[in-house]
Amino acid sequence: MQRHVQIDVAERFFKYLKGRDTDFAQRELPIAAKSYFDDEYAARERDLVFRTRPIVVAHSSELDGPGSFVTRDIVGAPLLIVRQADGTLKAFSNVCRHRGAKVALEGAGCAQRFKCPYHAWTYNLDGSLKNIPFDEGFDGLDRSQYGLIELPVDERHGLVWAVATPGEPLDIAAMIGDEMDGDLSAFELDKYTLVREATYEEDMNWKVVADGFLDPYHLQFVHPKTVGPFFNTNVYTLDVLGPDVARLVVSRKSIHDIREQDPAEVDLLPHVICNYILLPNTFVAVEPRHFEVWTISPHPTDAQKCKVTLRFLLRNAPTTEREESYLEKNWKLLVHTVVDEDWGVGRALQAGLPHGQVKETISGRNEAPIQFLHGNLAAILSGDAADAMAGADEPYPRRYGNLVGEAS
Ligand code: FES
Ligand SMILES: [Fe+2]
Repeated sequence: MQRHVQIDVAERFFKYLKGRDTDFAQRELPIAAKSYFDDEYAARERDLVFRTRPIVVAHSSELDGPGSFVTRDIVGAPLLIVRQADGTLKAFSNVCRHRGAKVALEGAGCAQRFKCPYHAWTYNLDGSLKNIPFDEGFDGLDRSQYGLIELPVDERHGLVWAVATPGEPLDIAAMIGDEMDGDLSAFELDKYTLVREATYEEDMNWKVVADGFLDPYHLQFVHPKTVGPFFNTNVYTLDVLGPDVARLVVSRKSIHDIREQDPAEVDLLPHVICNYILLPNTFVAVEPRHFEVWTISPHPTDAQKCKVTLRFLLRNAPTTEREESYLEKNWKLLVHTVVDEDWGVGRALQAGLPHGQVKETISGRNEAPIQFLHGNLAAILSGDAADAMAGADEPYPRRYGNLVGEAS
């Protein structure tokens, strides 16, 4: 986090902690219950949000040398991402140009070329078509037109983004904007190492999980014996830094020790967790000693299922038994807190909501981060993405137009 941001956030926390105050939205926001279970609604989300927008698909360290590759799917669309000889990345549709078989079957690996398992057409690392067995059958074909279909990809701050449909080159720096770019650079996230990773398939709509990550209101209630005692419930700062990106900061109880000091002088970082929200589905939580990347993917066909990947990164991989056991302890606590505690509530919520007794849920003024997510989705699904920011005083206001107002 940049120094000027730390000072601004410290000033706001010190003020908020004196009373029952936080960054409030201007009004409560009703959310249609069916957006959590309706298959038609989910199909629109998949088409308009997930298949056409940049999605985080890997950490850079998963692609660490020429020829290293990962395969992913974005709501079912198969992707192949490959590190090139010059160190850049290319992303392709993982669908053979002959008759459509899946070209690379492994989840990850290192290759010199990719051979389709069906009739052994081979492709170079840059996606170009290299060889066709029995090619007299294809002598009318211009091979230069039959490389793997290239997809937009970009890499920044150690994260790899791709888009599931072909289109313009991606520019993540422009998408996240200067302020978030500056914050993430200051944390040097690209220098961290991936030390743990897990994927969970859950019986929840993806937004149930997302809402949980955007919710400083539940901490003491859902986590009374784990993280609840260490954090201030219902106090946060939210800065919307672009249509799809925001910074949500929550504070530890230890911030009370410094709250009488001059905000310009304090080191805020040991006392907060900074959550960088990269809509639609990625949440980067930066803590003093590690950071986490959570990505949530809707199920390709079922509105009430999702897949969540957690990546846990340290500045340096543990080298001693003590460091290893510290990591193990933190990992277990994190998994218990989220998978058992948060998702325990979420799974039960998902089981109850589709019965139709409650037609809409309500997001309070103190739930501005959730309003940011649902406002963003509503704007995209209604075709008003450009208008969502219109009427604001500046293109990317610190507090989002009519969603997040000044605390009273
Ligand atoms: S489908 Fe790939 S070689 Fe035939
Ligand atoms: Fe939680």
